[in-house]
Amino acid sequence: MIAFSRRVAQWQRQNGRHTLPWQNTQDPYRIWLSEIMLQQTQVATVIPYYERFLAKFPAVADLAAADEGEVMALWAGLGYYTRARNLHACARQVVSDWGGRFPPTAADIETLPGIGRSTAAAIAAFAYGERSPILDGNVKRVFARHFGIEGDPTKRAVEQRMWAIAHAEVPADGPGAADEMRRYTQGLMDLGATLCTRGDPDCGRCPVRETCVALREARQHELPTPRER
Ligand code: ADE
Repeated sequence: MIAFSRRVAQWQRQNGRHTLPWQNTQDPYRIWLSEIMLQQTQVATVIPYYERFLAKFPAVADLAAADEGEVMALWAGLGYYTRARNLHACARQVVSDWGGRFPPTAADIETLPGIGRSTAAAIAAFAYGERSPILDGNVKRVFARHFGIEGDPTKRAVEQRMWAIAHAEVPADGPGAADEMRRYTQGLMDLGATLCTRGDPDCGRCPVRETCVALREARQHELPTPRER
């Protein structure tokens, strides 16, 4: 069987979106900005904000030099305003602690304010091709179903099992690994957002249906295990 990551990456190449404004760059600043905006906001809403933000602040130093009011004005309407304050604090830290160069690894990126493990990994994967696994809410759903992981994924023990899988499933190192990692990471996000959805997964079009535990056992609607209440 072809590797899980290979099938996801191939599917992304053939079916994914490739023309979003943050997909045609490997500039970590631009990728970071897109990932923060996309955390709690849909793609279509983000695009005009993203364009305006970059027009005003083309580089991290421009954002760092801005005053808080300018940043908040450009963010107005996107919601979750802590993101904007953290963004500004990040930019200032990149300038003060990293000489204006975005940190070079996922581990370093994670030290910036408001950037969690999965977001740091996504930025490093897209910007540098680093083989750092992501694990956000959508990816947890894909993993719970495909690998048949039982238990509430917001619980620490379950999350730890999923991080182990996330590490084990990253594309192999070697020639082309960086590009493969970019496609795989975007593919995982897209799979969770478009096919392996919460309510009504479209298993017939899924690139990993042949190895999916949930599909084999007809348990797509039972996994991931709902939060206890
Ligand atoms: N949500 C978070 N990151 C994303 C990305 N790179 N593409 C689409 N949706 C996302």
